[in-house]
Amino acid sequence: MLRRLHADQPSSFAFTPANQAWAEAQMTKFPEGRQASAVIPLLWRAQEQEGWLTRPAIEAVADLLGMAYIRVLEVATFYFMFQLQPVGQVAHFQICGTTTCMICGAEDLVSVCKEKIASKPHVISEDGKFSWEEVECLGACANAPMVQIGKDYYEDLTAEKFADLIDQLAAGQLPTPGSQSGRYAAEPASGLTSLKTMSRARRRLTLLCNWLWTWGIRLNGLTAVKCRS
Ligand code: FES
Repeated sequence: MLRRLHADQPSSFAFTPANQAWAEAQMTKFPEGRQASAVIPLLWRAQEQEGWLTRPAIEAVADLLGMAYIRVLEVATFYFMFQLQPVGQVAHFQICGTTTCMICGAEDLVSVCKEKIASKPHVISEDGKFSWEEVECLGACANAPMVQIGKDYYEDLTAEKFADLIDQLAAGQLPTPGSQSGRYAAEPASGLTSLKTMSRARRRLTLLCNWLWTWGIRLNGLTAVKCRS
């Protein structure tokens, strides 16, 4: 997919004082002469500040890092996490549409976007709050289907839960990221399926070791050593 800078660009960009200080601190993490290594975090911070990545922002980051504009433009156009056009003021939804999410209902989430936001990706909703796009695998396949908003992942979604999540954001609330089905992380949705007997065996071994320790029984000529468990 060809990614270009948006036709309408603001005239200037400047980091806020806090973001400028943060950017300069990031640059100190790298050896002298290697400040270009900070290009992705700085572009990301510029995007967080403005909502999307403008041409003046790309040039400002290049100036800060002593890089040619084209080098920073290459980075900004390569990674899909950088938005090169305006997005919704409240949230831009990145819907994973790759195999696992597709099998688990990603198309239903896209339908919710079409119904509640806009019929096409990268089009801002009438109220200006939201936009959406379909993206490739975001690496949370065990919690499919999922959606990314900024840095946050919302996982184990259904069409109903996703619609409710959009409503909460529209009402000014901030839904808790992570699994939306109550899972702690990516453990089996139906409970443990392995290592069940292991824990019982370990418990018995611990009891046996404690008993040997308590009574000072010598095993193989050595004092039994209390197990670390
Ligand atoms: S397939 Fe959706 S996160 Fe991997």
